[in-house]
Amino acid sequence: MTTPHPLTLDTSKQNAHLTFKQNQHMGRHGWLRLTPAYSVQLVSKILEARRDAAAILDPFSGTGTTALCAAYMGLTATGLELNPFLVWFSSIKFRRFSATSIEEARSLGAAIAAASSSASGPTANPPPIHNIERWWDEDELRFLCKLKACILDRTEQGTTARDLLLVAFCRTLITLSNAAFNHQSMSFKDADKSPTLFSMGRDNAGVFGKELAFVLDGATDNPRTLPSVMPGDARQASRFLGNKFDLVITSPPYPNRISYIRELRPYMYWLGFLADGRDAGEHDWRAIGGTWGVATSRLADWKPSGNAFTPAHLRKSLVGISDPKNENGRLLANYVAKYFEDMWQHLSDIGRILNTNAEVHYVVGNSTFYGTLLPVEDIFKAMLQEAGFADVSIVRLRKRNSKAELFEFDVTARKSQSSGHSIVCEPRRVSHKPLRTRSRLTRARAVRVRGRHSR
Ligand SMILES: C[S@@+](CC[C@H](N)C(=O)[O-])C[C@H]1O[C@@H](n2cnc3c(N)ncnc32)[C@H](O)[C@@H]1O
Repeated sequence: MTTPHPLTLDTSKQNAHLTFKQNQHMGRHGWLRLTPAYSVQLVSKILEARRDAAAILDPFSGTGTTALCAAYMGLTATGLELNPFLVWFSSIKFRRFSATSIEEARSLGAAIAAASSSASGPTANPPPIHNIERWWDEDELRFLCKLKACILDRTEQGTTARDLLLVAFCRTLITLSNAAFNHQSMSFKDADKSPTLFSMGRDNAGVFGKELAFVLDGATDNPRTLPSVMPGDARQASRFLGNKFDLVITSPPYPNRISYIRELRPYMYWLGFLADGRDAGEHDWRAIGGTWGVATSRLADWKPSGNAFTPAHLRKSLVGISDPKNENGRLLANYVAKYFEDMWQHLSDIGRILNTNAEVHYVVGNSTFYGTLLPVEDIFKAMLQEAGFADVSIVRLRKRNSKAELFEFDVTARKSQSSGHSIVCEPRRVSHKPLRTRSRLTRARAVRVRGRHSR
């Protein structure tokens, strides 16, 4: 049996303490916001019940919440993550910092803040973000270009000081931006073009100083163990990870058309992880559930391999979603089918790197498309059973938003002897056909406006 679920909740409530919101003021956990991140509290509760786990894995590590929580509790943890910016970022978050290196970053930061406000000195080119003027007003953009150049000019590549200053730079670029994160589909505030006598522009250097102070405050709180983060694809986790694990706590992408590139692109462009829009689409196409740019047009042409396990719940939902009366039903059915084909690859592989009786926790949310409910938790359950896991159960955690039918769940299971070893991917029939009609542009545009749900 898996251990009894440690969370007792009123699941008719949104339980915001289980989401990224709880992490925002929690030292390193709050360094950068990722809306689909889950909370320290959720992970810690599960970990407290499994302190015996010798090795913990999060195969969809994101900002590294699982591994960092485990490390603060003195446990050994590893994250696997596809997005190179998140790998870089969590590798800093996971580090142990000496008092000397923190003080060095602090004094360099003060000098850099002053130099960035002066008219002379180096400056960087603005990043190639589409409609960059919507993101930052002229003064803020000029300041950020100078700030980046000063950080690079006064620090060495790969040093602790540079890394901490760049994390503070990431926080600063969001604070100074016109982007409003109050909704999942990020919007832009109107730029204030009319400074009054009392607001003669923002103290941009002061903003950087505050963000750096927040980062350095988190840096002083060192974890008890040192977690690691590996770049790699969770669909083939066993290829990237050599050791075996006793506990998996993870939140994979949901099939709700949330694009990670959408939220991460300001950081990724500024720090050189993205070169242009095409690059952004390529990144999102590689990620599970990606729909950004070229990812959407690729989805339109995507065809099932025939090798994935397609449980009855999934087949039924695909029929409902692809109904001809739904304008982009075929495209969205492709999106859902590909999401679960990818997830099947992950679930049928992960058992290879788990010790017998290892416990897994998949925190997932359901979705609706054109009124058809996609019972993601039931599909995960069926897939885990098919992959040979035992004691599969679903625990409802929280209501997701105002839509009555949308919830988040923890799908838990235990690795039995057979999981991950004897799965033979037989070709299976998939009951919907891939999309072949309508122009790519129309489909891409339409898919952006339909079926999106917040976490
Ligand atoms: C819901 S987020 C995880 C958030 C994480 N729990 C946290 O607290 O920050 C899912 C993550 O899966 C990553 N991802 C998507 N496809 C992946 C793949 N094929 N292999 C590994 N990671 C992937 C995304 O980049 C994203 O960071």
